[in-house]
Amino acid sequence: MKVGIEAATFFIPDLFLEISELAEHRGIDNNKLLLGLGLQKMAIIDTNEDTATLAAEALLRLFTDYEIHPKEIARIYLGTESALDAAKPTATFAVQMVETQLATQFGERCFKNCDVLDMTFACIGGIDALHNALDFVRINPNKKAIVLAADYAKYELNSGGEYTQGAGAIALLISATPNLIEIENYFGVGMSSVYDFFKPRRHIDKDKLINAPENYPEQIEIFSDEPIFDGQYSNECYKQRIQEAFYNFKSEKLIHTNVISSWEYIIFHLPYAFHGKRIFAEIFASENNIPCSTKDEVKAVLLSDDYKQFINIKIEPSQRASSEVGNLYTASIFMALFSTLQTAFLENKELTGKKIGFFAYGSGSKAKVFEATLHTNWKSVVKNWNLFEALNQRTAINFQTYIQLHKKALKKPVNTIQKGFKLEKIETDIQELNGARYYKYHV
Ligand code: HMG
Repeated sequence: MKVGIEAATFFIPDLFLEISELAEHRGIDNNKLLLGLGLQKMAIIDTNEDTATLAAEALLRLFTDYEIHPKEIARIYLGTESALDAAKPTATFAVQMVETQLATQFGERCFKNCDVLDMTFACIGGIDALHNALDFVRINPNKKAIVLAADYAKYELNSGGEYTQGAGAIALLISATPNLIEIENYFGVGMSSVYDFFKPRRHIDKDKLINAPENYPEQIEIFSDEPIFDGQYSNECYKQRIQEAFYNFKSEKLIHTNVISSWEYIIFHLPYAFHGKRIFAEIFASENNIPCSTKDEVKAVLLSDDYKQFINIKIEPSQRASSEVGNLYTASIFMALFSTLQTAFLENKELTGKKIGFFAYGSGSKAKVFEATLHTNWKSVVKNWNLFEALNQRTAINFQTYIQLHKKALKKPVNTIQKGFKLEKIETDIQELNGARYYKYHV
């Protein structure tokens, strides 16, 4: 039985900041960001957008762009590391928004019997959601599942992560009719608990707060979307985990030959566009029996014509969208796939039966490696995307507006034209609903 992705959609928010503008204000050489890391623009959410609106937009498009009946969907799993609540899944907000929007066509509460859940493991949470959805369909081939991945990557101002920010979401229909790609049931895994990037609760003393309510504890826990991280160490953890997952994949599938050359494309979790090509030298070398254990040997591989050619063919198309949007955390690896297939579609490539290798990573840390095969109907799925056109229609904001958005200092949205799902209000008046989020769809 074949199981995989039947349909797929994405959503990128309308606002973006040019990386060159950020570089200028931060006094960073733009060539480092452009030529060193591959950064051009970063997608940014407006004051009335959040993880749930991003996920809802991608989910609604799945129903409008492909003929899907909500009753077909037994599970909806959301991978995210920017959840809105520590108890109520962010998926419930997104599903409720879409359910309301679909009510005229399919009746009230069309997801009443759908099992909805969030999954969190930093950037690999979306792949974990996919992995679980595939398992579910493998044992229930008559049922379908939806995978959502939605995030906004926000780092501290002036930090080394600032230029790798981004935002966006994807939605995938998982079924036993995988019109886009079939995914095999061999997953290599590498896992180790480390502190390369994490979002802990932080503490401040109550007496440091002005007018702290009396019933607050002496130590107040604060949650921030901005991670604690060590950039170079996170690169190292990524590299180690994907190697562990890769060799685990090869031993699970009993592969003793060069498998990477059999893959038409290689799709990475891309925290920034050039990450995949910067960290793949060791695997490339070992697959091709090239020595690569010293720093000089790694450098020689990275600079070799064979490696550059390999990157240009198998990895470069995945970088294009990443350069335009930045890190989407859980959705990044899927955006790399969208970018690759959209490029192949525009170049009229014939990919039926070709294989793609995936390298997923989530800080904290875990990697998964698996492979997929392009279905004969892949173009019928991709033809709905128009990814690069959509990216070209966004609205640029200036540095000052970016800073205000980052500091949450704006009372009104930047976008004067409201379209799609927006956050209307967060409850503060009714005690028993304090913090509840209310959304509205704007036509
Ligand atoms: P950095 O210090 O900004 O950059 O850190 P760098 O020094 O590592 O690399 C700069 C590159 O630009 C080098 O290229 C330079 O040579 C080049 P290389 O030779 O090494 O390939 N360069 C130039 N090129 C042309 N012209 C010039 C020039 N100057 C320099 N003038 C880093 C980059 C990504 C570490 C930083 O931005 C960061 O800490 N980001 C946040 C964390 C991160 O993204 N980590 C990535 C791996 S972990 C991960 O992917 C998980 C994550 O997504 C979270 C999750 O799982 O939830 C983050």
